[in-house]
Amino acid sequence: MAMSLLRTSAARRAMMSTRSAPAVFARGKATLPDLDYDFGALEPYISGQIMELHYTKHHQTYVNGYNAAIEKFDSTSDIKSQIELQSLINFHGGGHINHSLFWKNLAPKSAGGGELLGTKSPLSKAIEAKYGSYDKLMGTVNAQLAAIQGSGWTWLVKDSTSGDLEIINKANQDPVTSPYIPLVGIDAWEHAYYLQYKNVKVDYFKAIWNVVNWKEAEKRFLA
Ligand SMILES: [Fe+2]
Repeated sequence: MAMSLLRTSAARRAMMSTRSAPAVFARGKATLPDLDYDFGALEPYISGQIMELHYTKHHQTYVNGYNAAIEKFDSTSDIKSQIELQSLINFHGGGHINHSLFWKNLAPKSAGGGELLGTKSPLSKAIEAKYGSYDKLMGTVNAQLAAIQGSGWTWLVKDSTSGDLEIINKANQDPVTSPYIPLVGIDAWEHAYYLQYKNVKVDYFKAIWNVVNWKEAEKRFLA
């Protein structure tokens, strides 16, 4: 993943300044990534209130939870305890990765949000070949989203072995893993829409395409 989710420069500097001391691995802390736009910039499709809570509370909780779980993991040599921490690391680490990708997935209308790529774009060609059109792709993703029971995500991904596009669902905060490369992910957790769309989540699924950043998706597709 191109996006760095760890800020390690302080740890690196500390290690460089103690070259003669025994090597000690200093793990960087996960931190919230910067947002490229204001909380209200995705309105009316996603309210500023949702964005602020989603970013400053929910995403921050995943960051904190991941850091706490890793700290515990590093502080024990008991294998059973380490195994028991795996689900926490998966949940909070996955939540951190998923949301970091999600913010980049979105863009205000004024910055190209919702703007489809031209017919010559490699991603457009792949979408047309596999799904027939952007509209049909969005309809298929929305049907998958609506079918999620409980919390989870639907992702448009590229299979890195075949190069094919696929649509996959992930439960809870399970991240997209190899061989799939995440291109566009839609958060189907209630915290992503409930304040604005209440129980009508299908309206949120329809609306969010107005602010999807297809240029970012193509960047990931070509990476
Ligand atoms: Fe979320």
